Amino acid sequence: MWNRTKITELLKIEYPILLGPMGGGFSTPELLAAVSNAGGLGSIGAYTLSPEEIIETDKIVRTKTDKPYNINLWVNDVDERLVNYPTEKIEEIKLLFKPFFDELSIPLPDLDANIPSKFLKQVETLFELKPAVFSFIFGIPSKEVLNEALKLGIKTVGAATTLDEALALEEAEVDAIVATGFEAGGHRPSFLKPADESLTGTFVLIQQVKAKTKTPIIAAGGIADAKGIKAALALGADAVQIGTAFLVTDESNATPMHKAKLFSEESKNTVLSKSLTGRMGRMIGNRISSAIRYDIEVLPFPLQTRLMGPLRAAAIEQGKTDIYNFWSGQNAVNLKYTSAKELIEVLIREMS
Ligand SMILES: Cc1cc2nc3c(=O)[nH]c(=O)nc-3n(C[C@H](O)[C@H](O)[C@H](O)COP(=O)(O)O)c2cc1C
Repeated sequence: MWNRTKITELLKIEYPILLGPMGGGFSTPELLAAVSNAGGLGSIGAYTLSPEEIIETDKIVRTKTDKPYNINLWVNDVDERLVNYPTEKIEEIKLLFKPFFDELSIPLPDLDANIPSKFLKQVETLFELKPAVFSFIFGIPSKEVLNEALKLGIKTVGAATTLDEALALEEAEVDAIVATGFEAGGHRPSFLKPADESLTGTFVLIQQVKAKTKTPIIAAGGIADAKGIKAALALGADAVQIGTAFLVTDESNATPMHKAKLFSEESKNTVLSKSLTGRMGRMIGNRISSAIRYDIEVLPFPLQTRLMGPLRAAAIEQGKTDIYNFWSGQNAVNLKYTSAKELIEVLIREMS
């Protein structure tokens, strides 16, 4: 019974396969429902959404599934260094990107550094909606927030990029820990040490966390097929979380250009770069990640995202696929499925 684990018991799901939440507009209710309806755990990455948008999305989700699902938020959604960030510095950093804006014949945008955190308002909304699971990255919510989740019967899932972060999450008594290795697509959600000092691979991290904690473990990063799931479970994980393999499916909201990139030869070359949002994340390497190397200062998160917004829109419109970064995990070379429903069914069949 490969599919009876601490996680399936805890989350009341049939199979220990979780859809990685993909914030920034990549998650959809269709993608969530494909995974939850098949007996896994679907999710919505909601960190960019307003409370009203979360309510709206949740309404649609409930028309598509009556199974458990997860809403994911970012505990820390604005860099501390953004407060009082000097205007001259913003203008200086903008100039680094000017050649790319010029290439697309668009002006550099005016930027307002006054960006408040959304997290606490989003949490209030989440507590009204009461999804089965509340997962979060970039930190640990306050004791009050975790206690309220406990009272409401919502399971809490935190993400660790190092053993120390896993120990901190266990100390806070979260219900489960995502052990997320550096192979994973999207942001590197480190919160104790800088992301570039928290680069443990998934299969080592699972073993470290298994050796030193008792909390159920969800392995994330580089898992895209049944062999990967078997390996993660063999090393001590109680479930897996898959992002990139679902990002290419029809049910995801990635652009056709993004999906084509993931299916192309280029996806063998991913890099960790801050150039897209201001925080380190894994994406397919391109001219911008090569030019703006990791040690070059970019704007704090999420101001850098606002700088790149118009560039992204123009690059998509003009079909300039080498100028904009596309999120991807390291293990994209074997991606096959364009239907999330089919992918999850194949994973379950090959595991059984
Ligand atoms: C485009 C994209 C966006 C992501 N956004 C989030 C997010 O908002 N919250 C989160 O917890 N994880 C996020 N992740 C990480 C995934 O949930 C998952 O843990 C990761 O993709 C697993 O590694 P894999 O891509 O190698 O399968 C994102 C991943 C991608 C590819």
